[in-house]
Amino acid sequence: MAFHSTFSALPIRFCFMPQQMEPSDVALTPPRGLSVFFADFQPSALKFFMSKTFYITTPIYYVNSHPHIGHAYTTIIADIFRRFRSLFGEDTYFLTGTDENGQKIAESAAKANISPQEFVDKMSQEFRDLWPHLNIQHDQFIRTTDAGHKKQVQQVLQQIYDQGEIYRKAYEGLYCVGCERFLDESELIDGKCPDHQVPPQQHKEENYFFKMSAYQDWLIQSIEENEDWVYPQRYRNELLQFLKEPLQDLCISRPKSRMDWGIDLPFDDNFVTYVWFDALLNYPNALGWPDGENYQKYWPHVHHLIGKDILKTHGIYWPCMLKAAGIPVFQKLAVHGHWVVGGSKMSKSLGNVVNPLDMKEKVGVDPLRYFLARDMSFGEDANFTEELVLVRYNGELANNIGNLISRSISLSRSNFENRIPPQGPIGELESELRQQFESGIEQVKAYVWGFQLHRALEHIALLSSHVNKYIDTNAPWKLAKQPESRERLGTVLYTALDAVRVIVGLLSSVMPDKMKIAWGLLGLNEKELDANQLAIGLLPEGLELPKPTPLFPKIKETTKSEESKVVQKPKKDSSPAQASSTSEDDLISIDEFFRTSLKVGKVVACERVRKSDKLLHSQVDLGEGTPRSIVSGIAQFYTPEEMVGKRVVVVSNLKPVKLRGVLSEGMILCTDDGKNLMIVEPPQEVVPGTEIR
Ligand code: MSP
Repeated sequence: MAFHSTFSALPIRFCFMPQQMEPSDVALTPPRGLSVFFADFQPSALKFFMSKTFYITTPIYYVNSHPHIGHAYTTIIADIFRRFRSLFGEDTYFLTGTDENGQKIAESAAKANISPQEFVDKMSQEFRDLWPHLNIQHDQFIRTTDAGHKKQVQQVLQQIYDQGEIYRKAYEGLYCVGCERFLDESELIDGKCPDHQVPPQQHKEENYFFKMSAYQDWLIQSIEENEDWVYPQRYRNELLQFLKEPLQDLCISRPKSRMDWGIDLPFDDNFVTYVWFDALLNYPNALGWPDGENYQKYWPHVHHLIGKDILKTHGIYWPCMLKAAGIPVFQKLAVHGHWVVGGSKMSKSLGNVVNPLDMKEKVGVDPLRYFLARDMSFGEDANFTEELVLVRYNGELANNIGNLISRSISLSRSNFENRIPPQGPIGELESELRQQFESGIEQVKAYVWGFQLHRALEHIALLSSHVNKYIDTNAPWKLAKQPESRERLGTVLYTALDAVRVIVGLLSSVMPDKMKIAWGLLGLNEKELDANQLAIGLLPEGLELPKPTPLFPKIKETTKSEESKVVQKPKKDSSPAQASSTSEDDLISIDEFFRTSLKVGKVVACERVRKSDKLLHSQVDLGEGTPRSIVSGIAQFYTPEEMVGKRVVVVSNLKPVKLRGVLSEGMILCTDDGKNLMIVEPPQEVVPGTEIR
């Protein structure tokens, strides 16, 4: 294999990977450290898929706080991406770890009244111990206090210093300890750091600077020439916007007189290295830069997953550092949004920080992984509440996918002596389902490769709905009562079970434990799961089907608190004067009221419905990945332009209807005084998808 040399031979300055390797480059080694479930990974699985190399990283987490759901999210989706890619035959490597140097950590250790080393050892272990509980299988866990990493950081610094790209000067600036960097005046809001809500401290000191400004033109050109390098697009635009201002040189040292918890500068031991300069280098260092075997193999096939708050360090500092060090630039920067809780930012002071293990207790590890991957539209903020987890669990896992698995197995068991039935001739309905799966599998793969995990899962749920519909249409329970339909019954149940097998395969990267059980329930314990299995028609007939137990038993949603149960009196008439005339008979129970699901939506597009002067057709983001199509009778009160960007209240569990041939999947709430309609507008800062109670 010659990935690296192939690349260094390319006459381009910014090193990107081509989309497809040659078949001779196929890696016939099992993915490292990953136990692909059901059976050992078989190289034969690769025959239909040309292999590529995929190195995925999470940020290394600061050890000044305990792991929370945000850290868990990035690490879980990194694990899911890598499992998917391995399943499809790619040679993968997955790195995570902890960021342990710098002022923030030193201050936390001092507060805890222990030495920094003791402190980081304890906290780093907390992260390391958590990941197996969340079914995360990383190949390596790096710590920035590792001796090897320290040596490598010093080697890079010395090299750049020898090149004349590091100089010393006196500097005065505003320093934010939370961000661990100097801030420009222009970044402050009301004199405070916008991320940490505290005024930065004024520091004046001699320091070393990296000539980052020299790379500005190169960086702009590289970003402009490579559309897919930063995903989603909006973050690429943010970087280009930032680069419109002159790029400053980067302060890369801290005088030990102020703070000594860090890596010594190799050329002046009165200073330690700025924590971000040290931390970013973890990515190649973990692979054994400059000449380690893994480095040769996996660099620069590197995909960095990061949260939006660390875009600047990864999208600006990091490529400039790599360029200066002569290390090829990473292949992809995939930027996700933040989890907010009940519409508010997670923070220690609000006491709303979600511990991943608490949520695991409630729904189990695999459903938690599913929720996180499914409910965050990659790149956007998403809302985390226990209710939302349960709604997704009951709606999609219990009612749709779990129900499909158990009904297709139970019906086959009861009608075919506990075995997979023989498949008779297939008809139009089977061809249609097969076609939906053929294109569906490709679609899911495309979404995963494009970092749109939420869409991939939405599509898998859609495939499951297709199979449920197929079963309903064919009503095997009726066929079972007609002896002359036995062959047809076999075909229907075989087709359903076979489709379930593919769905289980597609979900195996997301819910490895649950899908391993499901694979066994299909009688497939002896069969390995590999990418070749992800095709319709491969289920062996006649295998014994063990008695199914529900994979996702329904969980009762927690009752809403008594205080929030305020009975609303429905109005007979919309005029305010009539509001008090409600009779006892018109009252509804609180449970009836809570059957209505009200959510905050954001109108992302809007147009008039053709040939109607009353109707507007809006696309409303409800935090579900795909916007809902909603038709409302408000065209006489609002123009489409006024609608776009508005926050609205949506009744989200109405049966879809068609109005003038346009699908409407909800209702936008308005006030109505008999003359005017006015949209009820929640505050702009509420995240789409937030429930209203
Ligand atoms: N140590 C640096 C990263 C250095 S990488 C070379 C750091 N650490 S952190 O622990 O503060 O944050 C790590 C990651 O967690 C970031 O990607 C950040 O966006 C993410 N999250 C922190 N809070 C989050 C949410 N509420 N939701 C989702 N991710 C969040 O920054």
